[in-house]
Parts: sequence; structure tokens; C-alpha cells
Amino acid sequence: MALGRRSGNDIATPPVRRHILARLAGLIAFVVVAFVMTVWIIERRTRDDEFSAAVRSVETLLAQKIDTATGLMRATVAALGTSDEIAHAFQMRDRDRLRSSVGPLFDTLRRDHRITHLYFTGLDRVNVLRMHEPETHGDLIDRFTTRTAAETGAPSAGIELGPFGTLTLRSVTPWKHDGATIGLIELGEEIGPLLADTGLSLGVHLYALIRRDTTDPTIWRQGRRMSGQPARHLEFGDHILVSQSSPETLPAERALFPELLYDGSIRTVQTSGGPLSVATAPLRDASGRAVGVLAIFADRSRAQATFTYWMILATLASLAAGAAVFFSFNRALAGVEAAYRRQHELEHRLLTISDEHQRIVRLEKLSAMGTMVGEIAHQLNNPLVGVVNMAQLAERSVDKPDRVREMLGEIRKAGQNCSAFVKRMLDFTKVSCFDSRPTDLRAIADEALALFNQSIGRRVSIERVMPDAPAVAVVDPNLLGHAIFNLLTNAAQATGEGGRVRISLAQAAHADGRPGWRFTVEDDGPGISDDAMRRLFTPFFTTRKEGTGLGLAVVQHIVLLHEGEVGAANRQEGGASLALWLPEAVSVAPRAPDESAA
Ligand SMILES: Nc1ncnc2c1ncn2[C@@H]1O[C@H](COP(=O)(O)OP(=O)(O)OP(=O)(O)O)[C@@H](O)[C@H]1O
Ligand SMILES: [Mg+2]
Repeated sequence: MALGRRSGNDIATPPVRRHILARLAGLIAFVVVAFVMTVWIIERRTRDDEFSAAVRSVETLLAQKIDTATGLMRATVAALGTSDEIAHAFQMRDRDRLRSSVGPLFDTLRRDHRITHLYFTGLDRVNVLRMHEPETHGDLIDRFTTRTAAETGAPSAGIELGPFGTLTLRSVTPWKHDGATIGLIELGEEIGPLLADTGLSLGVHLYALIRRDTTDPTIWRQGRRMSGQPARHLEFGDHILVSQSSPETLPAERALFPELLYDGSIRTVQTSGGPLSVATAPLRDASGRAVGVLAIFADRSRAQATFTYWMILATLASLAAGAAVFFSFNRALAGVEAAYRRQHELEHRLLTISDEHQRIVRLEKLSAMGTMVGEIAHQLNNPLVGVVNMAQLAERSVDKPDRVREMLGEIRKAGQNCSAFVKRMLDFTKVSCFDSRPTDLRAIADEALALFNQSIGRRVSIERVMPDAPAVAVVDPNLLGHAIFNLLTNAAQATGEGGRVRISLAQAAHADGRPGWRFTVEDDGPGISDDAMRRLFTPFFTTRKEGTGLGLAVVQHIVLLHEGEVGAANRQEGGASLALWLPEAVSVAPRAPDESAA
């Protein structure tokens, strides 16, 4: 694996949380906006529908009120008609008597029943008496209702437009007395109160506007002046306001008169006082002629304020709910993200550690190899330098045979040293040839002791402690003998002249329960320093001038091949103690003889 492939700071968390939250916020915003829009549209529709219904009801309700008023007028006329005195006074055209006879009744009608006009007219339509205006008489009345009643002999009623621009509900009834029709009685009522009743019932304001071309403006203005109310009736373009349901003209409504659409359409206008719904309905007189319009206004400001209040509350509540959902999602996602990040970091750290470990192992291998090559070179170079020097000296001393022989002896010794070193190296590599079989460990110890006694050039006292019964284990006798020989040699080298070495073998189970044997080699030398203890089994570690440092490395290798263990310790009473533990049987299958021979 290439070093530095991964940089330390490339732990990037994918922006999952941001993506999810962005989508969630979008969704919440969409739901809230859709909710507000829907409610707003529904409110608009409801408002317009309500007003349309009110507009339709205005005409119906006004017609009903007109019917009721007309009925009352006819009942009054019927009562009047029965009076012989009144009939007689009329027939005699005795206007004073007629006036005094009808006076009290007219006063009552005017006061209690909103009747403003009472006419007594001949069948020739020439007026006999106007109770409301006694000075004017003798004129021909040419109104539709009067004409119809005179021509047909049947009652006629309806709204009539007067010369002064007044709209009056008139009811003309043929006057029957003693089986004969003697004249016409006409009662009239201003339409203002009828508009007021209708407006109040439907919660709307009503204004009656007549077309300017239906009346003479000069006469109209004169009439207003005469009635003392010039200011209340106003002109708006080609229309004149003649009556209304409320006592005052509301400024916001009045401001709209010039722009009123006279096509009957409905619309809602924003005014300074709030939204105002407005519509018009045609205003027809008794003959069915359209004389103007009925403007209908509905003030929506209170309904609008209530709606706005609840709408704001509902929107805030929706936003609060949305925010709660958003933040709980945020928190949950933060938890998921943190867990993800932790795991990611852990994986990253493991990978880094593994990389680092491999790097160190490689460096150690390189360094061990370098050390080994250096040591080998050193070990071979020393005797070779000696050989070269001796050879040069020998060349110069050819005339001194004794000196040459001496030097050749030195050269041979140096060659033998090199050869011994090379042999140890070969031994070191040979330990991988492993040929194990059940063997009595006591015999191996004895062979190693015999070899040791031959090779050691001085007196060392050896103590041998072996079990009486055969101590059998599956081992490679040659390798194990070599290992024990090395331990004995080291122990002897550590002790001085007359030193003591003890070799013992005892049965010992491993901590993991495997049965086995333990060889212990102890001496009474100086013991092992802390530094040497750490590097004891490292190849080429040595403190001896003539040592190679391979002895214990070989021992460790042999023990590991046997699935055993090797350890070193300093004895309390002084000296070192090296112990080999070997299992009774190894798990590796023994090699076939021909294989091992190869
Ligand atoms: N019984 C012991 N007491 C004190 N030190 C020891 C003992 N055995 C080994 N050592 C130390 O461990 C070192 C390494 O031992 P090892 O057998 O590997 O190499 P060596 O004996 O120095 O050389 P070689 O075995 O090649 O002749 C020794 O140089 C010595 O310092
Ligand atoms: Mg040694």
C-alpha cells in the first residue's frame, strides 16, 4: 500500500442532513402557503357568494315591501270610500269640506304609516284635491298609474318618478260609491323608508339613482330647494342620487358613485375604511321603464378584520407546527450524522493505524536487514583484513621461513574463523528444516551436555537434574540439542573460571492448559542487564567480542518451530536463568523422511 495515500483531513460528511432539511423546509413552506392561499380563495368566494345572494334578495324584498305597502294603501282607500260624507263632498267638488273630513285621517296616515301623498282626482284625471299640497289643484294628472286606473277602472300601483326627481310608491284606486265609480283616490309613499327597511333586513346600504335624462335638472334642483334638502341629493355624472336607505351618505360609498358600473356586475373595492362590495340593480318605474339604478353596498371591513385575525393566528400556528417538525427532524438527523461521523472517523483511524503499522513493519524489516548485512560484513571483514595483512607481511618475510610459517598459521586461523561464522550462518538458516518425532528429552540433554563438555576448554561444574521416567515429547532432536547446547555455552561464557551451571528438566503445563516440558539452564554469572534483556533474542545482538549474536536468535527460532516458548530472567541469588517450554506434541505434521532429507 502506498504511503500517504490518504490525507489526515479528508473525513467529509456527505451533506445528507442539509439536503433533507432543505427539502423539508420547502415542503413545510409549500404546505403553509397552499393552506393560506386556499383559505384566502375560499374566503373571497364565500364573501362574493354572500353578497350575490344579498343583491338578488334586494329586488325580491323590495317588491315584497312594495306589495305590503300597496295592500295597506288599498285598505285605507276602501275605508275612505265607504264614507258618504267624503263621497258627497268630492262629488260636489267641495274642496274645503273634503279637506276637513279627510284631514284627521291623513294626519294619522302621515304620522303612523309613512303616507306622504293623498290625491282625490276625477275620472277625467283632473285633480280635485291634494291633501299634502291643498293649494295645487285643477291640473291634469298624467302619471302612468293614474292613467291606467282611469282607463281600466282597476287599481294600479307602482313606483313613479315625480317632476322634482322624487321616487314615490303610488297606488291609484277607482273610487266606487253606491255602485258607481265616482273618481280616483291616490296614496303615495316616499321610497326612502322602504329602502331603509330592505337595507336593514339584508345588512346592506341602498341608494336610488335616477338617470339624468328622466327628469329636468332645473325643475329637480328647484324642487330640492323647495323641499329644503338641496344638499342630500347629488348629481353624479349622468345619474342623480334621489334616495337612500341610511340617513347619511357614507363618504367611502359616495366616492364610488362616479365609477359605479351600471351593468349589474358585482365587485369588491378596497377603500380607506376597508373592503367594500358593490353592485347595481335596475330601478324600474310602474310602467316597467328603467329610470335608474339601485346601488347596493356591503361593508366587508369587519368580516375582513375577523378573517385576517384568524388567518394570522392559523398561519402562525401552522408555522409553529412546521418549525417544531423541522427542529425535531434537525435534531434526529444531527444524531444520525454524529453517529455516522463517529463510525467514519473510526474506520479512517483504523485504516491510518493499519497503514502506519505496515510502514513500521517494513521499516523494521529494512532496518533488520541492513543491520544483518552490516553485521555479516563486519564479521567477515575483520578476519579478512587480518588475512590480507598477514599475507603482505609473509610476502615481505619470504627469507624468514619460521616467520612465514607463523603468519600462515594466523591466516589459517582467520580463515577458520570465517568458516566458523559462515557455518553458524548456515546453521541459522538450516533451522527451518524441521523433522520432529517422539523423543526422550533426557537423551537430547545428555547429548548436548556431552558435546558441550568436549567443546568447553575450561572447568565448569555442571549440575544435571532430570526426571527418572522417560520425558517424551515430539521434537526435532538435532535442533533441540543445538538449542540446549547454545544455552549451556552462553551460561558457561557468562561464568568465570570454576563457575557453576545447572540444567534441569521438569513436566510443566502451559497457562493455556497444554501439557509439556520445561528445560531450565541457570548459571551464577553476572546476570543480564536491562538493555541486554530487551534485545536478547535480536539477531546479532551480542556483548561478547568474539560473539556473533546469533545463538539466542537460533534458540528462539527452534522453540517457535516446536510451538513452545523461551524466556530469560535474572535469578535472585545472582546469575541468569533461561527456560524453554515445549509442548508434548506439536500440531504441525511430522515431515516425511525423504522430504526432511532433502
Ligand atoms: N547466561 C547469560 N548470562 C549473561 N548474559 C547472557 C547470557 N546468555 C546470553 N547473554 C547475553 O546475550 C548476548 C547474546 O547471546 P547470544 O548467544 O545470542 O550471542 P553471543 O553468545 O554473544 O554470541 P554467539 O552465541 O554467536 O557466540 C550475549 O552477548 C550476552 O551478552
Ligand atoms: Mg551465545
